[in-house]
Amino acid sequence: MRLTLRFLVPLLIALALFAYAAVPLVDTLTTRWFVRDLETRSTLIANTAQEPLEEMIRAGSRPRIRAYFQRLLQDERLYAVGLCLSPAEAPVATPLFPGEIRCSSLAPYLAPGEHLLRTGKGVVHVAVRRVDGEMPRSAELVLVHDMSFIERRSEETRRYLFYFFAALAVSVALITVVIAQLSWRGWVAGLRALLRGEGILRPSANTAPELKPIARDVQALLRELEHQFRPTDETQQRWTHDTLRAVLRGEMRGNDVIIVSNREPYIHVNTPQGIRVQHPASGLVTALEPVMRACSGTWIAHGSGSADRETVDKHDRVAVPPEAPSYRIRRLWLSDAEIAGYYEGFANEGLWPLCHIAHVRPTFRAADWEQYRAVNAKFADAVVKEAASDDPVVLVQDYHFALLPRMIRDRLPNATIITFWHIPWPNPEAFAICPWRVELLDGLLGSDILGFHTQFHVNNFLESVDRFVEARIDRETFTVVCRGGKTAVHRYPISIDWPPAPLARAVPIDEARERIRVRFNLPRSHKIGLGVDRLDYTKGIIERCNAVARLLEQEPEWVGRMSFIQIAAPSRGTIANYQDYAERVHKRVAEINGRYPNAAHPPIILLHEHHEPDAVYEYMRGADICIVSSLHDGMNLVAKEFIAAHEDDRGVLILSQFAGASRELPEALIVNPYDAEQCAAALGIALAMSPEEQRDRMRLMRNIIREFNVYRWAGRMLLDAASMRQRKRFRDQVEAQPTTV
Ligand code: F6P
Repeated sequence: MRLTLRFLVPLLIALALFAYAAVPLVDTLTTRWFVRDLETRSTLIANTAQEPLEEMIRAGSRPRIRAYFQRLLQDERLYAVGLCLSPAEAPVATPLFPGEIRCSSLAPYLAPGEHLLRTGKGVVHVAVRRVDGEMPRSAELVLVHDMSFIERRSEETRRYLFYFFAALAVSVALITVVIAQLSWRGWVAGLRALLRGEGILRPSANTAPELKPIARDVQALLRELEHQFRPTDETQQRWTHDTLRAVLRGEMRGNDVIIVSNREPYIHVNTPQGIRVQHPASGLVTALEPVMRACSGTWIAHGSGSADRETVDKHDRVAVPPEAPSYRIRRLWLSDAEIAGYYEGFANEGLWPLCHIAHVRPTFRAADWEQYRAVNAKFADAVVKEAASDDPVVLVQDYHFALLPRMIRDRLPNATIITFWHIPWPNPEAFAICPWRVELLDGLLGSDILGFHTQFHVNNFLESVDRFVEARIDRETFTVVCRGGKTAVHRYPISIDWPPAPLARAVPIDEARERIRVRFNLPRSHKIGLGVDRLDYTKGIIERCNAVARLLEQEPEWVGRMSFIQIAAPSRGTIANYQDYAERVHKRVAEINGRYPNAAHPPIILLHEHHEPDAVYEYMRGADICIVSSLHDGMNLVAKEFIAAHEDDRGVLILSQFAGASRELPEALIVNPYDAEQCAAALGIALAMSPEEQRDRMRLMRNIIREFNVYRWAGRMLLDAASMRQRKRFRDQVEAQPTTV
């Protein structure tokens, strides 16, 4: 406000001074215009009167002249008229003719100029015109105009001018105050946003143009600070949401981030209660959603929800998370044929069983391959459209998009493409089954970085490249040079958010246990085992049921004293192998439960339905044991989520040796899911494990997950990508210099 006044007061003073100078000037000018007008009128009247006057003068008839003058006076502005026939005589004049005008002293009025005369009755304008012609003697016609109307007009003009300037001053003041207020608010909002860090990571549309230089300076300062304080070894720092943001700002210079995955993080579905948001059962989403919250940007995915189309804008985008948007989903629509060929067919009937050793035969069809290629191209188009620059950071996710990295590289050569393969990579013999193995490898080698969960899968991939593609492999740095581009193939074990997001909304662990026991009418002392999976044949759900059955055979004292709850999220239900597997799981559970018709509580509780993350989290907190018995799994984040859910350091994890997670969590009870005896024994050990041993194991595993959380996973890939970019820039500079030798 003070700033506005400082601007406003000088402005108003300037306006007043201007008005002070302008009013007399305008007044003089208008008076002059009126006088000139009177001069012209006088000449016109004189010309008109010339002939009649000549005749009347010749006739020497003074009464006629007076009568004629009287008629002239009908013009309201003409005040008096006189005729001088000789300097010595009094004029023949109308009654109001001013006495100050004498026939002997008319010479000054004949000279050019304005002739104003102040008489006793006010100011008058005097014009003298000769009446020439064939007359015995010359005569002068004196026309006297009233000037009082001019004075009146002049006064009116001054008044209007005063009002005009006053109104102008008020309007200018009002406009100034409003504009000053609005831009002040804009400035304050812009500065506040800058201070909060918005518009610094990436120039935002809301950043006022005049604040952009400040934003750039703050960016530079931040980068400098981050460089100063970043430990040279990323393992020395604790990774959080903010660390990841800082890496993105500093190392990647705030480049825009685009994630591409088949599954979207938020699905809008129509329900009888209206449109609801559903969180899919997906390890990929569990891991990447917090990363995307930290990075902002765009997540491109298949819009698969029944209400997805109703919730996007005209560009097919929707801001998420719904409660506090920080990034956006760009949805792509797939036809039934595309879903059948690309997703169900090539990805899930071909690549999925090909990559998992779960003894389900992969099926490859040429028509599915065509759809797979077409859908990859469709997503490549979307990436190009969504990219705000020619060098975005694109995070390509999973086996649905093996061709996408190369397609993006061809269209955005400067993009940084980081691809992560969330499932295992088979050995070259198994991979050779795929008729399009060369195309898949070539597609993936369009990436700058290609990540797998384990070193074993990295090695398998390099072996496959060696076998099927013309490329140079460096086995020391784990890089592949193919078609002039370099791809670093590394191990990046994926993880989860720490602390887990649902913790903020969760009830205390004891209450969670109580709720589960009440829900299933179980006594307090009842032990609870838990499995949480998509209903997928790779997850070893039947094998863990077998383990429960075997334990009850071996240690019948647990009958009615423990229950195993299996949450099985419906998954890929249109594929025959999945339908078949679901049927077998139901049958096996019924069969085992049927063995104990008199048990107070069934040994296995199968919940074949979708559960939202908070509900799953409650089961995890309330369970005593979690079984992850995947027959083959890239990582398996359920194992990590169970550990993260237990801040009471209680609980036992039984973990398949074929899940990537087993490499990081050796304190779990590691089992071979195919070995029912071993699994049953592990279950028995878990049920009897002392709280102290549970605590010691849990603490070690919790420390690992805390340190190696999903921010470190994403951060390590981004840091590696950043140093690749720096090296490339340096190489380009060197190559651009003229050679001196
Ligand atoms: O495990 C592989 C995977 O693609 C994950 O990345 C994801 O969590 C899960 O499968 C989801 O499968 P879908 O998207 O087919 O439901």
